Amino acid sequence: MRLMPTHPIFTQPVPTLARDGDAIVVLDQTRLPFRTEQRRLATLAAVATAIQSMEVRGAPLIGATAAFGVAIALGSDTSDAQLDIALKTLAATRPTAVNLHWALGRMEARLRPLPASARLDAAWAEAETIRAGDAETCAAIGAHGVALLEAVVARRNGLVRVMTHCNAGWLATCGAGTALAPVYAAHALGIAVHVWVSETRPRNQGLLTAWELREAGVPHSVIADNAAGILLARGEVDLVITGADRVAANGDSANKVGTYLKALAAREHGVPFHIAAPLSTIDFACPDGTAIPIEDRGPAEVRSVQGVAADGSVQNVALVPDTTGAANPAFDVTPARLITSIITERGASHPGRLRDLFPEAP
Ligand code: MRU
Repeated sequence: MRLMPTHPIFTQPVPTLARDGDAIVVLDQTRLPFRTEQRRLATLAAVATAIQSMEVRGAPLIGATAAFGVAIALGSDTSDAQLDIALKTLAATRPTAVNLHWALGRMEARLRPLPASARLDAAWAEAETIRAGDAETCAAIGAHGVALLEAVVARRNGLVRVMTHCNAGWLATCGAGTALAPVYAAHALGIAVHVWVSETRPRNQGLLTAWELREAGVPHSVIADNAAGILLARGEVDLVITGADRVAANGDSANKVGTYLKALAAREHGVPFHIAAPLSTIDFACPDGTAIPIEDRGPAEVRSVQGVAADGSVQNVALVPDTTGAANPAFDVTPARLITSIITERGASHPGRLRDLFPEAP
């Protein structure tokens, strides 16, 4: 018997995104896990910079924040020209997460046909609809995904050992998260869960995941990225769940670099590998993974480690001289054949059958 309501209530401990008058307040994720600092963003440039610098990060949150960025940009000028500037500026911030373009597309479709005088209120309202919709979506992904963890319990009646990568928890969304939503749902049901959290060099988003899980009381262990293979080989993982930044029509899925290696090792050792992603992450216009743009964030992030000092300042410690060659593809593509299922707000799907779940999607 299913113990959980379809939409369990998950309240973010600190809102990742909230309206504050003519501005928004976001959580500065570059300060975590040592400092919980909110930032007020009141201009288009400030919103764009926050996304580009990854103060705001995670595919669904990037999209919702960009939607509010459009509203902010229209604050004193609701002309077509200003709308164009807002859409273009925000679209250029990061290339891989399609949620950004999904949200901007929604804003444009809503605002462009309106007379200029009606655009500002409509922009704030549409952005809020996107934000609230993402929270609902996360709850639904949690409700569907928890069945995978319940199945492990039914089979083995004990601890469920999940591996994840990067951060696809509440910090990356406006709700409970995507990959972590089933984990939080299971934890709420009293299912014993342990999460393997890979640190996710070079930006170490895994440390954000560890922070989230610690705050929520979910047992977890941080591992070096390269430790994933040995854990999978030793049979210490029941299932892998990660988020995604863009899922192509054939199910190929782009996510934080390192995801692909986990999927390969999971396949080798017979461990199910799931992607948790909402419709806003699915790009039906993109036929397969080769068409997904992969962000290159430049060598500096690889040559150094970023941390937060006791005074809260973000600091970089050099690992190698500036002259050492370095490459930094920020995402990789896991081919659909390595993916057991894609968990969406409408249920879990074989990666090649996403269209069946969303027949109406453009
Ligand atoms: O570069 P980031 O930190 O924005 O990348 C985030 C990820 O890769 C997440 O796994 C993905 O956006 C899913 S978030 C629900």
